[in-house]
Amino acid sequence: LYGESRQNSAGLEFGCAAERNALVEGMNKVEAFVEAHPLGAGLSRGGDANPVFSPMDGSTKVGTVRFADKDTARKAIETAQKGFESWSRIPVHERAAVMDRVADLLEENSDRLMTIMSLEGGKCLTDGIAEIREAVDFCRYYAHEARTLFGEGRLMPGPTGEENRYRYRGRGVFVCISPWNFPLAIFLGQISAALLAGNAVVAKPAEQTPLIAHETAKLMYQAGVPENAFFLLPGEGDIGAALTSHPAVAGVAFTGSTETAWAINGTLAAKRGPIVPLIAETGGINAMLVDATALPEQVCDDVMMSAFRSAGQRCSALRLLYVQEDVADGLLQMLEGAAKELKLGDPRLPSTDIGPVIDEEARDGILSHVDDMKESQTLRYAGPAPSGPLRNGSWVAPHIIELDKAEALTREVFGPVLHVVRYKAKDIDAVLNQIAATGYGLTLGVHSRIDATVKKVVDRLSVGNVYVNRNTIGAVVGTQPFGGSGLSGTGPKAGGPAYLTRFALEQVVSINT
Ligand code: SER
Repeated sequence: LYGESRQNSAGLEFGCAAERNALVEGMNKVEAFVEAHPLGAGLSRGGDANPVFSPMDGSTKVGTVRFADKDTARKAIETAQKGFESWSRIPVHERAAVMDRVADLLEENSDRLMTIMSLEGGKCLTDGIAEIREAVDFCRYYAHEARTLFGEGRLMPGPTGEENRYRYRGRGVFVCISPWNFPLAIFLGQISAALLAGNAVVAKPAEQTPLIAHETAKLMYQAGVPENAFFLLPGEGDIGAALTSHPAVAGVAFTGSTETAWAINGTLAAKRGPIVPLIAETGGINAMLVDATALPEQVCDDVMMSAFRSAGQRCSALRLLYVQEDVADGLLQMLEGAAKELKLGDPRLPSTDIGPVIDEEARDGILSHVDDMKESQTLRYAGPAPSGPLRNGSWVAPHIIELDKAEALTREVFGPVLHVVRYKAKDIDAVLNQIAATGYGLTLGVHSRIDATVKKVVDRLSVGNVYVNRNTIGAVVGTQPFGGSGLSGTGPKAGGPAYLTRFALEQVVSINT
């Protein structure tokens, strides 16, 4: 998995003043205005140029986007079918070399990409660094995997006296629909896997983050991805629906809400044509259990990171903290103190911990959840939103809400809101049943110094990524394959050994020699 021939990206060391200052200086020089539009062989530039404003203040124009229409979506799929014929015949080591070049270009252009992600998506510097690193790792990891899996194939042993060769090949045209919270890493993770497996790709990035997708697509073409094998279609939900309902689609990779995953599943199931795979990564009501043996300072750090990093806009983020009642008062006090220290502000400044949430709709939804909760639960902490020039942006300060029972939280709230509930040591089985009953299974944290407790939790819950005595975010490609089950998605895990093969067809050639 992690041999000498592949290494994860070193990224930038944010803690090192020289590297940090060079980054900020580089970003200050970037002219980041992007004019995004549909890309790919033979596509027109799309409709009117709509302005894209930064969520930071709601008025800084950071680019324009021309959305694709349904005819363009159809044309992209049909042209991609022809592109697939040639791309799938290119030897895998050449496809892998192209994706390695994409990774190099990401690193070379990191100042520009980070600036666009900060302005368009509100990404803080530490998140931007991690995102470039993850995108680079996806490209290189899948390229490395593809070289091994997609070569000549494997000679199978057995009694038939023939030559039996088992191999993987591309399926056809894959549709990739990606989210705004990792507008570079997940966008490129899906696409790189699909292309390396030999498919052509039509990608629809989230409507909130078309600029970074456009910029990345241009780097992909520069690296050698053919224009008839990869198409970018900025658009809203109607374009996603037009793509997934097209009869020629050979598979769909989707990351986003469980509701949309259900809808795509329904669309694919309703087609009377080839039965094709859906690879869906969705969300979770992610929990963490803290018992009385845990180290409070470490728990406090890990909870801050898990609940509030990236303004809580990670599918891995902690939503519901279970604390053994014996230590709950002390821990809540520490958490409130730590949350007070978090600084909201311009995401391009090194001193900022929390940038804006993605847009006004997200802000209003999160704040209305807090308002509803205040009626019946205990609001332990609500931080202040920025004042001054940033006051009109999409800000949500960290909130901590204590619940009287875990069932009071019925859905994933995608923002910096931590819910805390106390439990008694004797009720641990009931707690585990409650977590299982949500139907989600993405991330889970356990803080305990008792091995038997950790084992019990890990064995009882079929959650995709379990983190023991640490935070619950930032899975590392090739080391911590990421993804869940149940309402949290179909698998296979991104950045893991099974991911590429789900994008591929298996074929066995048996030759009577
Ligand atoms: N992969 C991200 C993480 O681990 C979430 O999408 O935080």
